Order: sequence, then C-alpha cells, then structure tokens
Amino acid sequence: MKFRIAIAADHAGFRIKEAVKKHLTDAGYEAQDFGTHSVEMMDYPDAAHPAVRAILKGECDRGILICGTGLGMQLVANHYAGIRATLCWNTEMAELARRHNDANVLTMPGRFIDADSAIAITDMWLKAPFDGGRHARRVGKIERDI
Ligand code: RB5
Repeated sequence: MKFRIAIAADHAGFRIKEAVKKHLTDAGYEAQDFGTHSVEMMDYPDAAHPAVRAILKGECDRGILICGTGLGMQLVANHYAGIRATLCWNTEMAELARRHNDANVLTMPGRFIDADSAIAITDMWLKAPFDGGRHARRVGKIERDI
C-alpha cells in the first residue's frame, strides 16, 4: 500500500501545493488533495480541517499544509489531539521536526519559499526518522494535560 499524504493549501500556498503534489505522485506516494484548487482567495481553515481529519480517521498517514506563512495551517492542525504540526522553512528544520518532534503534519510558508525549497523540505521530512529515546518522553508530555 502506498504511503498516503493529505495535502492542502489556501490561495497563498496553491502553486507550491501543486508542485509538491506532483513531486509526491512522481515519487510513488499517494497524495490526497483537500484543496484549494485555484489562486482565488479562500480561508485556510476550510482546507486544513478536512485534511487533518483524514489523518485522524486513518485515511492518510501524514499531512502537508501550505498557506502564506504556514502559521495559520499550523494553528488549525495543532487544534487536534494527536496532531503534531510543525512549520518548516528549510531542510534543517524539517529534519529536526521529524527526529525530535515526530511531526505528523508539515506546514510550509508559501509566500517565503520557492517550489524547489518546498520539495527539498518535503523530501527531508519524509525520509528523516523519529529518534525516539528522550524525544519520545518529551513528545509524550505534549498532550499530558489534555
Ligand atoms: C492569506 O492572506 C494568509 O493570511 C494566509 O495564507 C496565512 O498566511 C495565514 O496564516
């Protein structure tokens, strides 16, 4: 079974979403696209909520969300227990988001990175493993009081 990635963006992330989606598909991943489907202005939560819910329902394995800053998408995703969304704007951040935070959602700032950078960030985020150990203890404490 292919690794399933929920991908979504608002108008400010649309073009990068399209480039990342094509890259994922070419690389053999299953990219499930939750919109948006044009550069027409829309509200980022309307694309983020269904993408995140697909992960929580087990219909997707991880998620990639892109808006202008990546911040709005990160806020929506982290609204859900079980989601660890991290904003990454370079490959070093993406590697640490996986190795230390076991991030299951990647958010990226469409207005501040180009498509090549987004693809490099995505590749790193998909290949870097979770280090576990002390990081598992820390990740386990994130939702302790919920
Ligand atoms: C849209 O103008 C912008 O607010 C959105 O893409 C995002 O950056 C919100 O966090």
